[in-house]
Amino acid sequence: MKITGKINEVRNQVKEWRKEGLTVGLVPTMGYLHEGHQSLIKRAVAENDRVVVSIFVNPMQFGPTEDLESYPRDLKADSKLCEETGASLIFNPEPEEMYEDGFCSFVDMTGLTNALCGLSRPVHFRGVCTVVNKLFNIVKPDRAYFGEKDAQQLAVIKRMVKDLNMDIEIVGCPIIREADGLAKSSRNTYLGEKEREAALILSKSIFMGKKMVEDGERDAEKVKKAMRDLINTEPLADIDYVEIVDVNTMKSMEKISGEILCAIAVNIGGKARLIDNFMLMV
Ligand code: PAJ
Repeated sequence: MKITGKINEVRNQVKEWRKEGLTVGLVPTMGYLHEGHQSLIKRAVAENDRVVVSIFVNPMQFGPTEDLESYPRDLKADSKLCEETGASLIFNPEPEEMYEDGFCSFVDMTGLTNALCGLSRPVHFRGVCTVVNKLFNIVKPDRAYFGEKDAQQLAVIKRMVKDLNMDIEIVGCPIIREADGLAKSSRNTYLGEKEREAALILSKSIFMGKKMVEDGERDAEKVKKAMRDLINTEPLADIDYVEIVDVNTMKSMEKISGEILCAIAVNIGGKARLIDNFMLMV
């Protein structure tokens, strides 16, 4: 497995693979890889001849008060995980390689991003769309892999690819959880012992909400209220949002029907803002 921070080296490598007629999968990440990322890499390895994992903590998608500086990094452990999982190349550029002096072009979106995380993180999806577009242009993969853990991000990327006629298949992969239910996240490392315990309230409320809908509840407000009430029993939890939306439009719904996304964002003890969700076809 090769590691490079240079765009040209990635391009040359991918060109060589193409000459041999090989297919290429891309797994974009910000590193500090865990089993959630690994599940994407595994799937990519199973479905493509070669897999590129990008590891780039993208400054453009962080707001001015967010955790860009403290975001965890460990290239050594990440390389080991990628190599063991069968990736062929890690692309880990410096910010200067991705954003040269004078950089001023962006991929922006309306509608889908005016909901859920887009409301409390106003610059986030512009940064995500721009960097993912750049990664697509650099790697030119056949397929790219994204987790349902970031369900709005997955919907945004699918829409971008459709709207801008990108010839790339977007593959969504299920949420990987800890044994006790907590969705795996690089940001879980911010949690102390007390907060780790408190963070379980996210998956508990997700499982409860999912069961209510599966058992036939169709009043979105009832489900959201039950979830909010449960989260509020945890003193360290501070709700950002609890929402039920149409997964294709991100529009809030009163009566639950169609392809729904129930998504939550909760601050835990002022240490970490965590997200979780469930998706159902009703
Ligand atoms: P990052 O948070 O590192 O996540 C990289 C990919 O791993 C995303 O597609 C995310 O949904 C997926 N992922 C994270 N935790 C997961 C879990 N528990 N189960 C399944 N998949 C999981 O998302 C980003 O980076 C960035 O926004 C990026 C797309 C790389 C653009 O900078």
